[in-house]
Amino acid sequence: MFPIQRLRRLRYEPRVRALVRETRLSVERLIMPLFVRPGNNLRVPINSMPGNFQLSIDELVKEAVECSRRGIGGILLFGIPETKDAVGSDAMSDNGIVANAVRAVKDAVGDSLLVITDVCFCEYTEHGHCGVLTERRAGVWDVDNDPTLDNIVRQTLVHARAGADIVAPSGMMDGMIGAMRRGLDADGFSYLPIMSYAVKYASSFYGPFREAAESAPKSGNRRSYQMDPAAAAEQALREVALDLEEGADIVMVKPALPYLDIIRQVSENYAGVPLAAYNVSGEYSMLKAAAQNGWLDEKSAVIESLTSITRAGAGIILTYWAKDIADWMS
Ligand code: PBG
Repeated sequence: MFPIQRLRRLRYEPRVRALVRETRLSVERLIMPLFVRPGNNLRVPINSMPGNFQLSIDELVKEAVECSRRGIGGILLFGIPETKDAVGSDAMSDNGIVANAVRAVKDAVGDSLLVITDVCFCEYTEHGHCGVLTERRAGVWDVDNDPTLDNIVRQTLVHARAGADIVAPSGMMDGMIGAMRRGLDADGFSYLPIMSYAVKYASSFYGPFREAAESAPKSGNRRSYQMDPAAAAEQALREVALDLEEGADIVMVKPALPYLDIIRQVSENYAGVPLAAYNVSGEYSMLKAAAQNGWLDEKSAVIESLTSITRAGAGIILTYWAKDIADWMS
């Protein structure tokens, strides 16, 4: 008790604070999401996410080299195809935008940077939903789970053949991890890890991303496949349990900051399972906007946010600030 106990004793000197600090960010565990589109010499600014661009493949390669030079763990690729259709054919083509991008980036960076691919269909379908649609009941169109699994496997194999280091399915279809694992194993890719967006909420914080990836649903929303933000926390644990049984190697919680409680519960219940958190576009844009207005100090607010995600239990963080953080920490 006071005056014997004085917690400030360990706070006066910076060296002492550093000595007793527990939570540390590490650049090699950051993943930078990047958007690739057709064309040449293109860096199309994303208005809602200042500092981010839709990149043509040549520009993407330069950006990947910059990430690798900074020691960032990997990049996560999202493709914006030349043409969209009902099923998202570009995503299932060995000549599609992401397949071509993966080959070009791997050629340039070799093993110095992981290339992770987002496996999903919303950027590739004209309706903007994450799979094929069916009229579930009169007048109600919805993503058809099982036929979508077949397409997810096709897309996964396109990414694997192109040379992706990790595949990351984000569509929240039931059974998607098992289908991918079986498909990969049957084609000689039993070594390729799956990072599952295991716990992905139907979040309004994806708003800016949908502008960036041109992937907003033309009608309806994603609540019939992504999780209800108000669902019992145990549902998140069930999603993780199922994905692990089906063969997921890394699991993710998304978004990050509004779901720190979920990150904490997953990390406590699945100690030893690599856990990632996605600091999503809306989390980026709101802080960026405040910083641009001079209302917040960007660097310290970002590091504080990512420290909280790490402290909650996520070892791997996907964030649009990956490059900046690497610069700040060097
Ligand atoms: C789906 C996907 C989304 C994000 C990552 N993968 C959008 C969605 O589910 O609508 C969101 C990422 C972000 O907001 O930064 N392909």
